Amino acid sequence: MLTEQDLKDKGISATLVRHPLVQHKLTLMRRKEQSSSAFRALLREISWLLCFEVTKDLPLTTTSIETPVQEMDAPVLEGRKLAFISILRAGNGMLDGMLDVIPSARVGHVGLYRDPDTLQAVEYYYKVPSNMEDRLIIVVDPMLATANSAISAVSRLKEGGAKDMRFVCLISAPEGIKAFNEAHPDVPVVTAAVDEKLNDHGYIVPGLGDAGDRIFGTK
Ligand code: PRP
Ligand code: URA
Repeated sequence: MLTEQDLKDKGISATLVRHPLVQHKLTLMRRKEQSSSAFRALLREISWLLCFEVTKDLPLTTTSIETPVQEMDAPVLEGRKLAFISILRAGNGMLDGMLDVIPSARVGHVGLYRDPDTLQAVEYYYKVPSNMEDRLIIVVDPMLATANSAISAVSRLKEGGAKDMRFVCLISAPEGIKAFNEAHPDVPVVTAAVDEKLNDHGYIVPGLGDAGDRIFGTK
């Protein structure tokens, strides 16, 4: 796995979430013998922590409240409009955890699959909330491999008006981050791990295999 210094040396930009709980849970997920139900539960739990990281600069204001002891001006979210966008299918595995943390967020879906021969993303579904231009948009997908899917989803969302976006994933490949940085330099990437490389089939090495299949037990 790459460190922040490795990312710097390669000239690529992503926030690495190195919290020990994230790293421990990710190791459990990677194990090939892990059941789909445990895989889903772990992804949901890691998504809580990734959600805290990607929202750490949300603006706060204060409100006057009374504790049992005295009055105070206490911090509350300013109430910025927010939407999670899940890249189907595997993004839905992260969406559940994100919504646990911010239940009031709107949700959109971009359906994409990766053509196994060309590795290009093919769109089959698109449904997002209104007023995309006013919202903070957090795009979720566990895997950033070639980045074709993420680049295509973010381009589509920009066409739909989105201006302020962040991309959150579980595992990324250096090649994917580089391609994503080049295509969308304005969209920060948050990831729990940057693995070594892609293999000849565009899979992340060592990775965790096909995230969608592991979440939904389809293989
Ligand atoms: C996986 C994953 C990403 C994509 C990453 O989806 O969830 O969307 O591959 O690969 P890329 O960076 O090379 O585009 P997949 O196409 O397997 O579809 P699924 O989620 O429906 O299984
Ligand atoms: N999609 C996945 O689910 N896993 C990979 O390693 C690459 C793309």
